[in-house]
Amino acid sequence: FRPKSLAGRRVLLTAGPTFEAIDPVRGITNISSGKMGYALARACRDAGAEVTLISGPTALPAPVGLTRIDVQSADEMQQAVLGQVGTCDTFIAVAAVADYRVKNRTEHKHKKHEGPLDIQLEENPDILRTVAALPAAPFCVGFAAESRDLLEHAERKRRDKKLPLLVANLVQTAMGADDNQVVLLDDHGAHALPAMPKQAVAEAIVDHLAALLANRLPN
Ligand code: C5P
Repeated sequence: FRPKSLAGRRVLLTAGPTFEAIDPVRGITNISSGKMGYALARACRDAGAEVTLISGPTALPAPVGLTRIDVQSADEMQQAVLGQVGTCDTFIAVAAVADYRVKNRTEHKHKKHEGPLDIQLEENPDILRTVAALPAAPFCVGFAAESRDLLEHAERKRRDKKLPLLVANLVQTAMGADDNQVVLLDDHGAHALPAMPKQAVAEAIVDHLAALLANRLPN
């Protein structure tokens, strides 16, 4: 008998894209499928954690045995996260949060006869950075999808956002795909994992996370 590696832990995750409305029918989103975040949520559940998954719009069914909260925009995602984070000891930000939202969104549908659609963008909150900076911050895990110079950019992101663990992957091979190849970056260095299905990647991330949590000094 092996005790479950996240037994007694409460894990909060974000997954999927966000959707930033332009008008009631149009919006800005991205190609995130949610597969990696959902795989990680299931792996945390299977490792014995109590899991809350805050999900942007995806086509994926809600996994059994965990709580899913559905959101659309980054702002809604941030509010949901801040509402839950106080009761969690680990936060894993997998969502591909839109960096910008529409400043001049309209209540009614833009009609073509009204002329060109002028979309003004303003920056969204960085949810992970906000959570990692909380006085009672949980153990924070970030993801970095880069299109080049993966390790350099990812390690800079990890330090900048003050994360004990960051999962780095290439946009070209990760987003939307069923397999993923990642590198785990922590205070001890870089740990490369082989390419494998996202569920196996998720299980490997959970093993690594559980070891880091077990070795952490109580704060
Ligand atoms: O800076 P970048 O967007 O590349 O950082 C990616 C990491 O930060 C991911 O873990 C992502 O979920 C999180 N993030 C966030 N809120 C944002 C942007 C990114 O939580 N507005």
